[in-house]
Amino acid sequence: MSVFFEGKKVRLRSIKKEDLPRLQNLMGEPETRRLVGEVFPVTEGGMEKFYQDCQETKDRIWMVIEDRETQRLVGETGFLRIFYPWRTADFSLILWDRRYQGQGYGRETAHLMLEYGFNTLNLHRVAIGVPAINKRGVAFWKSLGFREEGRQIEGFFSDGVFSDFVMMFLLEGDYRGRSGERQGS
Ligand SMILES: CC(C)(COP(=O)(O)OP(=O)(O)OC[C@H]1O[C@@H](n2cnc3c(N)ncnc32)[C@H](O)[C@@H]1OP(=O)(O)O)[C@@H](O)C(=O)NCCC(=O)NCCS
Repeated sequence: MSVFFEGKKVRLRSIKKEDLPRLQNLMGEPETRRLVGEVFPVTEGGMEKFYQDCQETKDRIWMVIEDRETQRLVGETGFLRIFYPWRTADFSLILWDRRYQGQGYGRETAHLMLEYGFNTLNLHRVAIGVPAINKRGVAFWKSLGFREEGRQIEGFFSDGVFSDFVMMFLLEGDYRGRSGERQGS
């Protein structure tokens, strides 16, 4: 199956080998790298390894994000460190192409993935860690119902300065309450 989910703005599908050059190129975007804490150069070997890791769906389910209209690859999203006995997973969502940020692509992608996570994978808890310097990121997760549960104090280092890492989570009950509200509205 190529397209896994389709929304109004985005299509989510599994990663193909042909995606690697564009993804590697996008992953060089300096401001987004800074906001998500990427510090090492993106190498071809690293991309190949990433591709191989994405073929295994046991504890990771990864997808690329396409702009539905143009089918341009604009980012990536996925669950990682999935642990089915505890029904937990970490979540990631990055719109590497900055031209697509701030237009609802992130929100739609997150809704598709959270729906899948809670209602198909049967997750109970989804967590995310965001550098505190990424104020938009923190606001974004809050807008989706994620709550802050603590901070790794000075757990993040960027541009010569230590800052906090904000740990956030969303439980299935919170998610179902919110999606019920959306459907009722
Ligand atoms: C963070 C990110 C995923 C958000 O996706 P997006 O498509 O840009 O955001 P959306 O347009 O869907 O906005 C959804 C909500 O997030 C919040 N938000 C988005 N941009 C914001 C900003 N600049 N300031 C404050 N809140 C913001 C708002 O609540 C917004 O809802 P609204 O439009 O109804 O006000 C995206 O910008 C991104 O990939 N950024 C770089 C990587 C990153 O930070 N990833 C996540 C952190 S690990």
